[in-house]
Amino acid sequence: MSSHGAPIPMTSTACGPLTGVAEVPGDKSISHRSLILGAMAVGETTINGLLEGQDVLDTAKAMRAFGAEVTDHGGGSWSVQGVGVGGFAEPENVIDCGNSGTGVRLIMGAMATSPITATFTGDASLNGRPMARITDPLALFGCQSVGRKGGRLPMTLVGAADPVPVRYEVPVPSAQVKSAVLLAGLNTPGQTVVIEAEATRDHTERMLAGFGAEVSVEQTDAGRVITLTGQPELKPQHIDVPRDPSSAAFPVCAALIVPGSDVLVPGIGLNPTRAGVFTTLREMGADLTYENEREEGGEPVADLRARFSPDLKGIEVPPERAASMIDEYPVLSVVAAFAEGQTVMRGVKELRVKESDRIDAMATGLLANGIEVEDGPDWWIVTGRGHGEVPGGAICASHLDHRIAMSFMILGMASQKPVQLDDGGPIATSFPIFEPLMQQLGAQVTRNAG
Ligand code: S3P
Repeated sequence: MSSHGAPIPMTSTACGPLTGVAEVPGDKSISHRSLILGAMAVGETTINGLLEGQDVLDTAKAMRAFGAEVTDHGGGSWSVQGVGVGGFAEPENVIDCGNSGTGVRLIMGAMATSPITATFTGDASLNGRPMARITDPLALFGCQSVGRKGGRLPMTLVGAADPVPVRYEVPVPSAQVKSAVLLAGLNTPGQTVVIEAEATRDHTERMLAGFGAEVSVEQTDAGRVITLTGQPELKPQHIDVPRDPSSAAFPVCAALIVPGSDVLVPGIGLNPTRAGVFTTLREMGADLTYENEREEGGEPVADLRARFSPDLKGIEVPPERAASMIDEYPVLSVVAAFAEGQTVMRGVKELRVKESDRIDAMATGLLANGIEVEDGPDWWIVTGRGHGEVPGGAICASHLDHRIAMSFMILGMASQKPVQLDDGGPIATSFPIFEPLMQQLGAQVTRNAG
């Protein structure tokens, strides 16, 4: 089932060379944070290049429910009239975050230290995901919560009226948990400290500093120690959202496996906490170059050029790189199917609690399409068959997961028989222009008739 409406069955058929320029949408992580921090600033934040995917639209709606004025000016240009730290109003109704774990977890953090009550829900995927990883640290601030068995949504949070600052070691490598604690620390007197053993995406820290909060990051033997001084007045910002490296991975990977391809993906953020997949692909022998490397808004940015790569080899992906490419393992496993030898992916337990169990979803679909996959609790191995040798021909389930849906459509672009998808609806959560963009490059991705 699609998260919003009837299922959209799709088919991807082997195509000629993919060529041209792929302008992917704005970064999902930065888009959510722009709206939430904009809502917590005093005055008007303006945003260009906001990702207008369903996940981010649901966060915009939520920010309105908490009292911020959020306006869509068209063409990716948005503004947020913030209510200030501690200025959230109590929502009149249930907050529906749709498919978005980032949306609900960050918003829970942002409201947890205000004396208001809010109830959160989502689609079947989100309502099955673990929330105790958020409500446990929020309870330390004084926030109460009650949800379904196993700490699942729907869930009600009663924000702390007199929050106390927290020192929290994040037990799983998760930027969402780290960010929820930092956002809760905003309306808390004193210093909130978050320690992460493994570095995860650092957009929250960077953007908090940009909005004028006092935030410091120290690298210690225990990991990254982030210290935030509470109750700042956040200053409204102008934000140019860079294009999303996680979305860029799809046209890049497609170009690597479709013979004769040459695709330029311009203006991609290459923050080291996000760009692990591109390093991995290059280690596999991908013809992937960074052109016009530059800095924009304090972030490294480049135009990615991906060409068909006839000599892809399976590799062991370093586990310590996992956090910097956590959303890209599904599409990496597709490239691995076209490589020679085994691609070994370890230290990836978190993949089991994303929008779907991504190891299970990909392993099942790859096996059905003739690719050998072994897996365990926190690892999986794909045995590649090499170019031209991937059978395809199966119908795959997207499990309400946009990245699973897009990965199988990439698989079909170079497999012997077309690959079908039960529901392409979830693609709209993060990459609403995926179909026209891939078609314009030369892909044959179509919605099934009837
Ligand atoms: C995100 C963090 C990651 C990632 C998600 C976006 C974020 O999740 O998978 O798509 O914007 O903070 P975790 O923090 O749970 O690893």
